[in-house]
Amino acid sequence: MPHTRTAAAAPLPAFDYTVFGGTGDLALRKLLPALYLRDRAGQVAAGSRIIGVSRSALAPSDYRARADAAIRRHVAPDELDEGLLDRFLARLDYVPVDATTDSGWGELAGRLEGRDGPVRIFYLATSPSLFGPICDGLRAAGLVTPDARVVLEKPIGRDLDSAREINERVGAVFAEPQIYRIDHYLGKETVQNLLALRFANSLFEPLWNANHIDHVQITVAETVGVEGRGDYYDHSGALRDMVQNHLLQLVCLVGMECPISLAQESVRDEKLKVLRSLKPIGEDEITSCTVRGQYRAGAVAGGAVPAYADEAGIPAGSGTETFVALKVEIDNWRWARVPFYLRTGKRLPAKMSEIVIQFRPIPHSIFPQSAGELQANRLIVRLQPDESIRLHLMTKEPGPGGMRVRPAPLNLSFAETFGGRFPDAYERLLMDVVRGNPTLFMRRDEVEAAWQWAEAILDGWKARHDLPKPYIAGTWGPSQAIALIERDGRTWHEDEIPNAAF
Ligand code: BG6
Repeated sequence: MPHTRTAAAAPLPAFDYTVFGGTGDLALRKLLPALYLRDRAGQVAAGSRIIGVSRSALAPSDYRARADAAIRRHVAPDELDEGLLDRFLARLDYVPVDATTDSGWGELAGRLEGRDGPVRIFYLATSPSLFGPICDGLRAAGLVTPDARVVLEKPIGRDLDSAREINERVGAVFAEPQIYRIDHYLGKETVQNLLALRFANSLFEPLWNANHIDHVQITVAETVGVEGRGDYYDHSGALRDMVQNHLLQLVCLVGMECPISLAQESVRDEKLKVLRSLKPIGEDEITSCTVRGQYRAGAVAGGAVPAYADEAGIPAGSGTETFVALKVEIDNWRWARVPFYLRTGKRLPAKMSEIVIQFRPIPHSIFPQSAGELQANRLIVRLQPDESIRLHLMTKEPGPGGMRVRPAPLNLSFAETFGGRFPDAYERLLMDVVRGNPTLFMRRDEVEAAWQWAEAILDGWKARHDLPKPYIAGTWGPSQAIALIERDGRTWHEDEIPNAAF
């Protein structure tokens, strides 16, 4: 029977969330629905406001109508409540501002003037090239108070230099504790559960090292293609879009030492140490440790899909990767010679993210061959869909006669155990900014360390003129990705893949 969840929403201070890029895809698809759901949960204090900002000349009533349509589209029908939605929409306002000129700043200042009580937050859901100009504009308009916070969406730049430049420009206006760099993977329920799994149990930590763990696999597979974001994606590719941020953050949470507490900087300090211990993958390791791929036409979830090269906004002959597989090592005492195999890609057979901790085999078997094959223990943390933690153990097959053993999972399914719905990552992170809790956001040094490591791979690919290997949409990437792990005598974990539903 599911445990009753006691997640009563704690009251938070009132806020003024100003969302630059307020008419964009992220705001309409994720941010406004997330704020509505938090309001519905009773977490949005009276007097809170959300001000959409973009270049478009819209009346506030038009903006509310767009928000209304977006929320109805992206929130589950059973979570829509007409009265609560009306209350939420009444909190919305809109101001047209052109971040690259003087236009609109005075009006925005007028809306925020005299609002000294609510927490003042600026969410920059725009291209990173606008982060600097927006921060300058905010300062010039006198809107940056000592308690104001700024939220930066990824990507923070496209390499180390551009990341540093953005960090410098934003840092000239806001102090580091005022800056919240979002990586929405850190807001996912199961990702945070890694902290509980590792540090609220005594069972795993003694085994969590090179003596007992053979290797780690991290897969973040998507069925979608570039979803109308061709222009952005083609300048980015899977390494910049997914590995430099989301996958490396997962590596950090699996690999880090126990922080001294969950307070403030401790978790981020430990993650940084992992990033700094990543063994560089330079030009010489490019062939043995990396695979880049690009999808050709194929079928996903029973439907035909075009090749990446034929997607809208993709230039002919694009050499951008839509798939990456890597063999990564953390050069420290705990993880010496334990490979972390990472892979992520678009147009794969299923939407599925999971972390597999493969333990070492037992040192000696007392079982005769007729008892069956002994498999080493495996811990699988499924991040999405069907969040769960499964521990594969060898057990005796029931029944009389000779001893037969086989692997069986201890299965902690979150839905079965806790019931209910889990808040979207953005719901938690948006409220963490209001709360003033930066633990699940990336610090400047983390972002730069991640870029430094990722950039060596980008440079290696460039130096070697490494072109992405083709794979058919709906398959698990190029055959070289299978070879990457199999030449080490290991295989990708693909036994419990959900059906490709979307
Ligand atoms: C984003 C990437 O950060 O994460 C997208 O830019 C990707 O390309 C998305 O599709 C995946 O997020 P999720 O939460 O659906 O796994």
